[in-house]
Amino acid sequence: MARTAFLGLGVMGFHMAGHLARAGHQVSVWNRTGAKAAKWKKDHKGEVAKDPATAAFGAEFVFLCLGDDPDVRTVFDALEPSLGAGMIVVDHTTASAGLSRELHERCKAKGAHFIDAPISGGEAGAINGKLTIMCGGEESAFAAAEPVMAAFGKKMTLIGESGAGQLAKSVNQICIAGIVQGLAEGLHFAEKAGLDAAKVIEAITGGAAQSWQMENRWKTMVEGHFEHGFAVDWMRKDLRITLEAARENGASLPLTATVDQYYADVQAMGGARWDTSSLIARLTRDA
Ligand SMILES: NC(=O)c1ccc[n+]([C@@H]2O[C@H](COP(=O)([O-])OP(=O)(O)OC[C@H]3O[C@@H](n4cnc5c(N)ncnc54)[C@H](OP(=O)(O)O)[C@@H]3O)[C@@H](O)[C@H]2O)c1
Repeated sequence: MARTAFLGLGVMGFHMAGHLARAGHQVSVWNRTGAKAAKWKKDHKGEVAKDPATAAFGAEFVFLCLGDDPDVRTVFDALEPSLGAGMIVVDHTTASAGLSRELHERCKAKGAHFIDAPISGGEAGAINGKLTIMCGGEESAFAAAEPVMAAFGKKMTLIGESGAGQLAKSVNQICIAGIVQGLAEGLHFAEKAGLDAAKVIEAITGGAAQSWQMENRWKTMVEGHFEHGFAVDWMRKDLRITLEAARENGASLPLTATVDQYYADVQAMGGARWDTSSLIARLTRDA
């Protein structure tokens, strides 16, 4: 069993830290808003630290699950005095590959290790402990962290060097953007054509157009319910990171850039916290 720290008890981190404690690891948690840490302590076995450095002090593994690049930088700056030789910092935030490489170097300077480890699977995946985790970093650090991440992950893959996990997460988000827009247009077309959406989905699910989004989101899309799932604000953050990376590596992402603007429309419609499947709302609005 490992000595761990978990910094960031949001929608995802709260449950992930809980799985670590349930698996028998020693867990010291910290959250900017203290009330969430206090709630965590009520539900789980573990300690609440007063700041990131105290949480990380003496830990073998320090997990982060924050919002965006500036948040990770702020918390990393605060924990840096506690970085020690052999410590492994695992960042589950969806952030930029450039930041991962920078923090990898800052860890290395202290004999510590850094793994970028963005997650996929949504809140349900965090609750069930079945997240998919895409990792970048050194093989030895990944090998040491993998059995600990297994407390909340069902599939951990080392993609490559530092930053590769974040770049793989971008691939995931590029694919989702295109799939959701295609599904939105398909369902919108079905409605305009006077078809029964349930019958159409029954006929085509399992065929070449099958997707997780089709299986899990078609009904709420048709009904116009979006108060669940992965928020448009977070998706726009991920697509910003992705489009910036594409400008650096020269990838051509015309569809992703267009869908990003469609999500801006959804934000303007008041859908900042709606699920990403709300792309269909702009089509029905314009219809
Ligand atoms: N939610 C999902 O379905 C999902 C799925 C896959 C990936 N992700 C990614 O996972 C990450 C976390 O998502 P989430 O849904 O758990 O987000 P969330 O509920 O908004 O939680 C964000 C966490 O980061 C902390 N935080 C933000 N800015 C901070 C700062 N400047 N200093 C210190 N702490 C700060 C927040 O603290 P406070 O409590 O004080 O605000 C909170 O603990 C994001 O990068 C997201 O893109 C999310």
